[in-house]
Amino acid sequence: MEILDGKKISNQIKEEIAVEVAQMKERGEKVPHLAAVLVGNDGASLTYVGSKVRSCKKIGFESTLIHLPEDTTEDALLKQVAELNANPDIDGYIVQLPLPKHIDEEKVLLAVDPNKDVDGFHPTNFGKMALDMESFIPATPFGIMELLRRYDVDTSGKHAVVIGRSHIVGRPISILMSQKGKAADATVTLTHSRTKDLKSITLQADIVVSALGVPNFLKADMVKDGVVVIDVGITRVPDETKEKGYYITGDVDFENVSKKASYITPVPGGVGPMTIAMLLKNTLLARERHKTKEA
Ligand code: GUN
Repeated sequence: MEILDGKKISNQIKEEIAVEVAQMKERGEKVPHLAAVLVGNDGASLTYVGSKVRSCKKIGFESTLIHLPEDTTEDALLKQVAELNANPDIDGYIVQLPLPKHIDEEKVLLAVDPNKDVDGFHPTNFGKMALDMESFIPATPFGIMELLRRYDVDTSGKHAVVIGRSHIVGRPISILMSQKGKAADATVTLTHSRTKDLKSITLQADIVVSALGVPNFLKADMVKDGVVVIDVGITRVPDETKEKGYYITGDVDFENVSKKASYITPVPGGVGPMTIAMLLKNTLLARERHKTKEA
């Protein structure tokens, strides 16, 4: 069994980006600038956004955090989005999800300029991705693909079973793995809450991508020997013995599933850090695409 070490690979990617940024600076060029909009004070979102901003600083990007109060109106948020679209200094930005219930998420995501949509959530980018066109690929599935590529995991003709049909992970990873190319060319089954007899399907899987958010969901008796397991779940489980008052766990019973797996991602230290690295990669791509347009 080999661990797919997302922390190590994400550090490699961040170093590669840092080298490119240093070269941009040497040439006297503008460096990439990422902005993040956070509405409210959800604990996990604060952690993610903080981590994204810190990573920007480390690799030499400019970053801006726009932290708005929980009671921000939909109109006020749309105005903020319009300002970011119009600001030529911002190469890319994200609106951290989930948004408070009184705000229509779809309306906000539609308002983001697709050329600055480094999350790849706008229908223009999602549609282009599905059609094999150049786009921004959502960071989490992009990170999974990159992890599989860098470990040379053979996916061609393999049966990949995805658990969960979210717009952020399950749906896009099912599209990406079915496309042509490295870490792809798989035969994909997308499963969800209405899937009948899930275990009979996961038992046929050469690769399982679990993006459910239910701790300990994928157990050893649900997978075959040699399976490749990608655990996208990140759940905070309350635990007073821990300094933070919780610990982080994935969807997979790691201790037992890892005994049968050929490759497996840990939680933490697997897909999570890759998501941040690929958001930075998308921001670098955004800068390069804007530069081409400016020229
Ligand atoms: N919430 C959970 N994952 C993500 C992500 O990748 N991007 C944004 N904007 N919000 C999220």
